[in-house]
Amino acid sequence: MRVLSGVQPSGKLHLGNFFGAMNQHIEGQQEHESFIFIANYHALTTIQDAALLRELTRDVSLDYLALGLDPQRACLFRQSDVPEVTELAWILSTVTGKGLLERAVSYKDKIARGLSPSMGLFNYPVLQAADILIYRSEAVPVGKDQAQHVEMTADMAGYFNNIYKCNVLVIPKVKLNEAAVVPGIDGEKMSKSYGNTIDLFDEPQRIKKRIMGLKTDSTPVADPKDPDKCNVFALLRLFADPDELAEWRRRYLNGPMGYGEVKKRLAELFEQRFGPARQRRAALAADPGYVEDVLAAGGRRARAVAQAVMADVRRACGIVKARD
Ligand code: TRP
Repeated sequence: MRVLSGVQPSGKLHLGNFFGAMNQHIEGQQEHESFIFIANYHALTTIQDAALLRELTRDVSLDYLALGLDPQRACLFRQSDVPEVTELAWILSTVTGKGLLERAVSYKDKIARGLSPSMGLFNYPVLQAADILIYRSEAVPVGKDQAQHVEMTADMAGYFNNIYKCNVLVIPKVKLNEAAVVPGIDGEKMSKSYGNTIDLFDEPQRIKKRIMGLKTDSTPVADPKDPDKCNVFALLRLFADPDELAEWRRRYLNGPMGYGEVKKRLAELFEQRFGPARQRRAALAADPGYVEDVLAAGGRRARAVAQAVMADVRRACGIVKARD
């Protein structure tokens, strides 16, 4: 089974990104054929600074590689290294009603947040559909916010197959990521736009400071505390093994236990888990050609698949001659 994931290059990776999606992408490489790409064409809808886009594209690639994505197994590539995807997006746009796109929740949200409604932003789901369909992806693991885009993709594939009476496009399935609850340092959902993140590859000292600064209530050390209302505990859940977690739960409920103590342990576990990746990331970043080589090789592999699918698409709709 081929599973495809796209990520927008969006700056510093934080714990919420990691446990929300990236971790699943990386673990997925063990079970199925994984295609993971950096959506730099999509990013043009929000980033209009050439140097920044290049830098962010490289950064997110380094993040994946440092965290254990194996480029021999998974295919890691840049969206733009398969330019055929924009051709498929055009063809899909000719079989897709404008009404479908007008119902896109993510588009409406972005407009509500003040983004200007460029044609690119409006067509965003069509390009996303092309991403998915051009590799004949069977499953697309996404968070809830992206599920509608995958459903729209299935619709677009159906329109194409119906109009051209063919089975060229494979109808993909949404694979909803189990949403790990990752609170930020203020207890709200961790998000770059709230400024409440813990960045995965930040300086160790700063990470420790962020963790020690996690917001808690002011229950005295001796009194019982509710672990299920505590964001330190919610984060601990992501790092501690079940036995250790059960022991902390007991201590929350029975006391005595200070928040400082559990935060310190959380910081330790964070370092154990991500310290080695930080070092790996620094080593990979120091090798000037490495990331580029990985992306170029991934791009060639992905493009070969895309070119074969596009040959079928072009034939099906009469852009080139049908096979005799
Ligand atoms: N829209 C996705 C996001 O913002 C990124 C994306 C682009 C994507 N193309 C894709 C995700 C194809 C899955 C499949 O997260």
